[in-house]
Amino acid sequence: MNTITAAITAVGAYVPDFVLSNKVLETMVDTNDEWITTRTGIKERRILKDADKGTSFLAIKAAQDLIAKANIDPLEIDMIIMATATADMPVASTGVFVATEIGATNAFAYDLQAACSSFLYGMSTAAAYIQSGRYKKVLLIGADKMSSIVDYTDRATCIIFGDGAGAVLFEPNYEGLGLQDEYLRSDGLGRDFLKIPAGGSLIRTSEETVKNRQHNIIQDGKTVFKYAVTNMADASELILKRNNLTKDDVNWLVPHQANKRIIDATAGRMELEDSKVLMNIERYGNTTSATLPLVLSDFEHKFKKGDNIIFAAFGGGFTWGSIYLKWAYDKK
Ligand code: UT7
Repeated sequence: MNTITAAITAVGAYVPDFVLSNKVLETMVDTNDEWITTRTGIKERRILKDADKGTSFLAIKAAQDLIAKANIDPLEIDMIIMATATADMPVASTGVFVATEIGATNAFAYDLQAACSSFLYGMSTAAAYIQSGRYKKVLLIGADKMSSIVDYTDRATCIIFGDGAGAVLFEPNYEGLGLQDEYLRSDGLGRDFLKIPAGGSLIRTSEETVKNRQHNIIQDGKTVFKYAVTNMADASELILKRNNLTKDDVNWLVPHQANKRIIDATAGRMELEDSKVLMNIERYGNTTSATLPLVLSDFEHKFKKGDNIIFAAFGGGFTWGSIYLKWAYDKK
């Protein structure tokens, strides 16, 4: 019997229409386009303006885009993993709601939360279910409505984050394509440097926590930056070495889009030329769980069957890692 590998066989994406540019941010906090562009690489981000719509809205749109493009029957989906740091509600899984809304009524679903590494970890989980032979169609969605947890008076966070969603379908492959290797790590020392302090079981929501703005995301950007650069570069270098890949063997780097300088440092350590380093951070900013599938969606037309792709991410927690995947199809 052939070994089963787990391949990505389809991609979908969605970003809301409203564009929040650096120029507009200049009118909201003490910042400027030049600083944001040179320090992060971001020019604009998308925002879901509707107050009555949550992350599920973005996720449903991305999943429906994938279903339409791949022409699959939602009833065939076995499982949905919803990677998100901004669930619709603390309890009642967003993934479950999304599954029902897209008509995937034969699937079971749940949420996976690992901050900006949610999608990367989700790739590992989805692939493991496929490789085991247990399921045939696993839909992995990465979506975040970051605008729901961003304090638009805090220039350390509001310039970075945006809203968006992407989805990929994992299916069995018998030609050795798909996920080849992974290196995933986490370190709880990071939890104080990037967090939403209140609203969980540690600090219950109260008038006090609302008054103190403890339900917004806060970060010590400098510290997160330092750990992100080191760990994303280390993980990507390790994956190359462990799989005997040289820089010439790598076709594409799909990095988490948090800061162009973090991406440049990772690519530099891998000695990759710029043309292999995929970025759309200038248009979307950091969409947390959605960055990796949004890059896949934007550059899918360039990928060829057999291409070697390295994924890398770093996020709050801390969480980070790198995945080596062989692309499984040429886009029609
Ligand atoms: O996805 C994982 C989650 N997050 C990340 O990966 C984010 C990682 N961190 C970063 O991307 C960067 O640390 C930031 C973009 C958040 C900040 O960039 P930085 O180069 O680390 O800036 P800094 O905090 O060291 O500040 C440098 C200077 C300071 O001024 P002085 O003290 O040198 O006069 C800040 O007050 O820039 C100032 N500054 C700003 N100026 C204009 C900080 N934020 C801003 C701003 N606009 N938005």
